[in-house]
Amino acid sequence: MAEHELTTVVKNFYNDVAINMNFVCAVNKNQISQKYNELISQLHPETMKRYYGSGFFIPEKVDGLKVLDMGCGSGSLVYILSKLVGKDGFVNGVDITPNLILEAKKHSNYHKELWGYTEANFKFKVCNIEQFDDLGFKEQEFDVIVSNGVICVCPDQEAVFKNANRLLKDGGEFCLSDVYADRPRPAEAMSDSRLFSLGTTGSMLMEELNRLCELGGFSKPYLKGAAPVEFKNMEIHESVNKVQLACAEWRLFKIPAGARRSAAEVTYNGNIFGFEDTFNWDVTTEFKTGQPVTVDAELASILSTTRFRDSFSFKDINTPVTTPRFQNPFTYLDELRTRGGEVEYAYTI
Ligand SMILES: C[S@@+](CC[C@H](N)C(=O)[O-])C[C@H]1O[C@@H](n2cnc3c(N)ncnc32)[C@H](O)[C@@H]1O
Repeated sequence: MAEHELTTVVKNFYNDVAINMNFVCAVNKNQISQKYNELISQLHPETMKRYYGSGFFIPEKVDGLKVLDMGCGSGSLVYILSKLVGKDGFVNGVDITPNLILEAKKHSNYHKELWGYTEANFKFKVCNIEQFDDLGFKEQEFDVIVSNGVICVCPDQEAVFKNANRLLKDGGEFCLSDVYADRPRPAEAMSDSRLFSLGTTGSMLMEELNRLCELGGFSKPYLKGAAPVEFKNMEIHESVNKVQLACAEWRLFKIPAGARRSAAEVTYNGNIFGFEDTFNWDVTTEFKTGQPVTVDAELASILSTTRFRDSFSFKDINTPVTTPRFQNPFTYLDELRTRGGEVEYAYTI
């Protein structure tokens, strides 16, 4: 299948920023656990200078697993995951921009030696995540898929969700960080390729994210974190109907068929690296080691059929339960501001 013309524009944009370094994103350090921040601080500086993500969602409990990064850029998340999956796991990083894959590969030996491996447990490749055949992986090949700041610059977002679902094993997790919008943008802005490359027009509305989760065969998204995008270029802001943008991180699951169970009282046993005292599921639910928490049927199904199953004990309950959750990063950020919480910008346009 031929490449979409906007995809070619995006590729040229990132080929250029990889060399000219004229685009910067912040790492949301205050939303990342201390152990993960320590790993990030050890990455090669040239890798991190080309970090263009929209929130570092680093999946937990990936020891020995097979992970795919869809749109890996210069490889920051691949290298962190290379450490976390250990020598028995493997990480594939794919991206459409040749210059970014080149940059990622330049620092392969550095990271292999940094983590003390004799064989690299990661591989990079140039390919288009909107095209299943181009990806070249088998169906159900991965335990976890990550994607950071990529789908907002993909014209065929539906294809990316469907491909992620086909590549994930049953019970697999799609750890998605991306940019979202609070309102539609004018039709004329939607065809502007520069605005598209900046993620200002391809960023989804919440209805769209929910539709794609359902269509792709995923659970409803759990919000893991969010950060606003700052507009300093007022001309651009006017041209996109003064849209508010937010980076948000979500957990999505490919729940196995027939996994439904009742609500349950679940107790976390503290066995996840980096989260021995508290495991933050999303922005509303946290599991403290040894303390029972009542969760609804969907969350009980997820916890008992995914890689988290041996981190919890389960006691079924037969009364209806609703687990509170934010489905909208803008409402969550408003609440954080109301509570006087620190709300750092992810990047500036
Ligand atoms: C905002 S950057 C994020 C890069 C990386 N995830 C990071 O955190 O640094 C968006 C990335 O998506 C990649 N990309 C865009 N469209 C793609 C596609 N159709 N297939 C694969 N990669 C794509 C770009 O090349 C770019 O590296």
